[in-house]
Amino acid sequence: MAVRYFEETKTFILETKQTTYQMKMDQYGYLLHLYYGEKIKDQDLGYLIQPKDRGFSPNPHEAGNDRTYSLDVLPQEFSSDGCGDYRKSSIEIKNGDGSTSFLGKVVGHRIYSGKYELNGLPGVFQTEKDTVDTLEICLQDQASKVMVILCYSVFEEKDMITRTVRVKNNGSKPIYINRIMSMMMDFMDAEFDFIHFNGRHTMERNMTRTPISSGVQSIESSRGASSHQHNPFVIMCRPTADEDQGDCYGFSFVYSGNFLCEIEKDQFDQTRVVFGINPRGFSYYLQPGESFDAPEVVLSYSDQGFSKLSHQYHDLYRENLCRSSYTHKERPIVINSWEATYFDFDDKKLLNIAKEAVDMGVELFVLDDGWFGKRDSDDSGLGDWSVNTDKLKNGLDDFVQKINNLGLKFGLWMEPEMVSEDSDLYRSHPEWCLKIKDRKPTRGRYQLVLDLSRKDVCDYLINSINSILDGANIEYVKWDMNRNMTDVWSSYHGYEHQGEIFHRYILGLYYILDQVILTHPDILFCGCAGGGGRFDPGMLYYHPEIWCSDNTDAINRLNIQYGTSFGYPINTIESHVSVCPNHQTARTTPLNTRGVVAMDGILGYELDSTKLSKEQKQQCREQIDIYKKYYHIIAYGDYYRLTKPYDACGYMAWQHVSKDRKEAVASLVKTEVESNEPQKYLKLKGLEADCFYKILGNDGVYSGKVLMKAGIPVPVMEQYEAWQCHIVALEV
Ligand code: GLA
Repeated sequence: MAVRYFEETKTFILETKQTTYQMKMDQYGYLLHLYYGEKIKDQDLGYLIQPKDRGFSPNPHEAGNDRTYSLDVLPQEFSSDGCGDYRKSSIEIKNGDGSTSFLGKVVGHRIYSGKYELNGLPGVFQTEKDTVDTLEICLQDQASKVMVILCYSVFEEKDMITRTVRVKNNGSKPIYINRIMSMMMDFMDAEFDFIHFNGRHTMERNMTRTPISSGVQSIESSRGASSHQHNPFVIMCRPTADEDQGDCYGFSFVYSGNFLCEIEKDQFDQTRVVFGINPRGFSYYLQPGESFDAPEVVLSYSDQGFSKLSHQYHDLYRENLCRSSYTHKERPIVINSWEATYFDFDDKKLLNIAKEAVDMGVELFVLDDGWFGKRDSDDSGLGDWSVNTDKLKNGLDDFVQKINNLGLKFGLWMEPEMVSEDSDLYRSHPEWCLKIKDRKPTRGRYQLVLDLSRKDVCDYLINSINSILDGANIEYVKWDMNRNMTDVWSSYHGYEHQGEIFHRYILGLYYILDQVILTHPDILFCGCAGGGGRFDPGMLYYHPEIWCSDNTDAINRLNIQYGTSFGYPINTIESHVSVCPNHQTARTTPLNTRGVVAMDGILGYELDSTKLSKEQKQQCREQIDIYKKYYHIIAYGDYYRLTKPYDACGYMAWQHVSKDRKEAVASLVKTEVESNEPQKYLKLKGLEADCFYKILGNDGVYSGKVLMKAGIPVPVMEQYEAWQCHIVALEV
């Protein structure tokens, strides 16, 4: 069993192939966190706790005159609130008597095989290949009778632990949960760097690394989506850790709404990490007997730096998170109409683009925004999901058949969560959107957000989406969401429940996605929120791929895809070749470079194929052939970041290596040039040291060790040129 309880020492030990996680119930019933890291032999680590009298750190009543016992100092597994631990808390409950406190002590536990259940929320699942064991520990507050159940599922072989928390109101009065963190972890020192991925629309997930300093560092979203600004994935690592070595811990929140991750370095140089739903705008009303399930956090630890940590997340998310049958299938090569036509199209224009795309080797045509309702610009039409026959004269089914007749599959863009004020839907149901009584709602991209906390709105959307999907041969859906939430109030719910709307919205969204996706298992769903504004594990449960960014500039994409690769598998990252000058940055890069960069994800095109020359189309066809040849390595192999953005070497490089280490693809883009440059060498990673390899197109034979330690000479290149090489093991 990967989970064990030792009665004599009252310790709980969770074990994966390479890690140990230890907790201990102390003499008063509080649950202490003792260790998470490299695997160690069974031993009670209680000796690490060294009691000291700490001024101004209060002592629980049961400690009597012992001034050395304080919850303010001890490493907690799930902290109390209002009872002497002043650090960031795991929970804030407003009790039935108006007090805000929670003092949880262990009252029981259970261990079982399999994973815990999550109600209405996405989560990592067990496949027949995995051994998963679960521990549930119940903490109860004796006064309020509020119970917190801490749940841990251990994916032993994959070196991952998932955690969540369930709150049960066992008392006799209603309570409000004002803060509930899905996990907390206390470390006994503060020698850490904090890594997170911040950004903005069209420039998402830039890696930021800062040393932890006294006080609190945090990242969050209060926008109603996981957001472009911060991603719900963070790493804590030792200051010397890098791609190849050093301790690092990953925390990944499987949720698509508001979140908060706080890292606190306390007065005694200890570190606390908490991760959960953002308490801002959150308050959940719980009647006696009711319970609340928090979303889960996925933890992983690597003693060999970030590459290994990423591989662990990639493997788990590829195999145990994305439910779609497409997860394990080669994705069709898509051409998307957005950057080709924006709103200005009719069926003739689109069919011409599709026709030319066939010549390029494209397999699926995606009709983006503008095909429905009155939608000639972004200020109207959302909510009216019936085809615009001014643009598609004979309707959607007829248009799809024409696309199919060209030998292409067909995909459709939708933005189901939104409504335009200028739409029939809004005119008939103005109460269906989020807005505050007697106040004009704040607009975003001219549109309002539908109130998905309402079951009637969800059911309406399920029916309308399903009828579109069933009315034509649609094989791909791009599910978009193009603004963040404001005026979060629902006319449907009473006063006590208004603090639940953000969360109920996300539950409503997950419910819709379930109903639509499970009834259309053969459709490939791609997530999107103005590009990567909702690129999170929660969404990946429903969509096996996500449009990574509205920025298609190959050079900016290097940074965006670099940051995304830390926590997300490469075959979830949609990446398209577009035209130059680029529509977002006006930069010009060679077509080859755009192809090489887009191959570091799910390759597609987003351009007007009728404007490409014969040679350019031929080049695209060659890109597609290369991509298909390497697909098994790119989609299912191990990923190595060989450089980081703004490295002094003047290029960005990365590498995909097949799991058996017999094949690899290394790619490099020259980002800066200098006069009379020194020779640079690209050192590969992940190869078998003693194995011999050939680099295709080159006559030499090299050992894996040579390629990794001495490297390959980087060719002379102009700025923004790209170079790619295929490395294959010699058969013995
Ligand atoms: C968002 C998406 C784009 C495109 C537009 C259409 O911005 O990210 O790819 O679909 O919406 O309005």
